[in-house]
Amino acid sequence: MLKEWYEIKGGHRLEGTVTISGAKNAAVAIIPAAVLAGETCVLENLPHIQDVQCLKEILEELGVTVDYTDGDCMRIDSRTLTNTKALSEAVSSMRASYYLLGALLGRFHEVELALPGGCVIGARPIDQHLKGMRALGAHVELDCERNIVRAKAERLIGAEIYFDVVSVGATINVMLAACMAEGNTVLCNVAKEPHVVDVANFLNMMGASVKGAGTDMIRISGRPRLHGCGYAIIPDQIETGTFMIASAATMGDVIIKNVIPTHMEAISAKLMESGARVIEGDDGRDFYLRVIMNERPRPINVKTLPYPGFPTDLQQPMMAYLCAAAGVATINETIFENRFNHVKELRRMGASISLKDNNTAKVKGIPALRGADIYATDLRAGASLIVAGLAASGTTNVHNIHFIDRGYEYLDKKLTGLGAQILRKEK
Ligand code: EPZ
Repeated sequence: MLKEWYEIKGGHRLEGTVTISGAKNAAVAIIPAAVLAGETCVLENLPHIQDVQCLKEILEELGVTVDYTDGDCMRIDSRTLTNTKALSEAVSSMRASYYLLGALLGRFHEVELALPGGCVIGARPIDQHLKGMRALGAHVELDCERNIVRAKAERLIGAEIYFDVVSVGATINVMLAACMAEGNTVLCNVAKEPHVVDVANFLNMMGASVKGAGTDMIRISGRPRLHGCGYAIIPDQIETGTFMIASAATMGDVIIKNVIPTHMEAISAKLMESGARVIEGDDGRDFYLRVIMNERPRPINVKTLPYPGFPTDLQQPMMAYLCAAAGVATINETIFENRFNHVKELRRMGASISLKDNNTAKVKGIPALRGADIYATDLRAGASLIVAGLAASGTTNVHNIHFIDRGYEYLDKKLTGLGAQILRKEK
């Protein structure tokens, strides 16, 4: 098997302009959601990332016609969908395939789905997803031996559902099933992330009636059928934040285009608190954020929370940035129980980080990290190591970059365009 890694010669400040791609976590929900239409949906602004490619293969295995040739546009024709059993290796290889649970149950009232296990950042149970499907009237059984879930419903009837945990996945998955249930559904204690709102907007474009996405309560009035539509997904909040942090970490000056500034408020606030300048602008076509940094970051305290709080997906890149702070910073991870796997890699670069209860990190800043051979363990840990390599003195080799390919489109090309010395190597 080909081994690939990024070789980064650190210490070069990022300068110039970069354009953000479509949101991974919107794309991986909207692509499965498109099968609710039973007609053709045309999706634009999809990022060219491994997870999107994988979902294309999964839909094709179900008999859906997917055309993803020109640019960032995908045509999904689910009239030809015949199979409601998604049990392949591809399905269990990625988490977001679990959105097929809500989509296939919503349209066909039956589904059999292979589930991914937990992953390195936590157990990632789906109890809230199943609670929602059962509340709508589905009979759901989880075969823990084979990691398969089966759901079947004579009828799906709208219900009032209170989520015990604020869950992006459960909020979206139950929304998918409820939008074709009979009658009204009220979802309480829901996730409010930008991609939750984007999925709701897409469903409404297909003729669904989903109100209140982005607030604590979502009201859905079921429809007997949905229709095809065209839709462009939002820019990626987490990719935007990653470039904002990379600019600050390299004492750079970067204009980040095709962004939605309100999605970035928590990151902008924290970067400004650490001494960066964040300027919001509009070039007549796109909103942009400009991030300028001229000194070592001041130490700050970061606590991850559901949106609009500081996103857990940027906790890891933020930690890499704070490794060079002029003082002691603290990072409290409240969403996932094991999202500090990047710490041991940052320590290889000289970082001084102590952990408490595996959810709080104390980062004692040093003048600069030094280059090393480091290993990504998950997507955003990979992003963290890239930020560390860009800021470090000397050469850093970031391995296991297949994790990074899952969620960042053309990352090395975009960074090279900003003056980074980054090469994708293989042997
Ligand atoms: C989504 O994961 C994202 N993935 C994650 O991004 C992101 O970190 C996470 O939301 C939080 O924002 C996609 O959108 C594909 P959750 P999801 O359900 O939906 C617990 C990335 O890097 N929980 O909001 O799986 C769960 O264990 C990825 O792009 C239950 O207990 O996250 C976690 O502690 C990583 N029961 C918390 O809720 C459930 O049924 C939040 O998880 C569901 C979740």
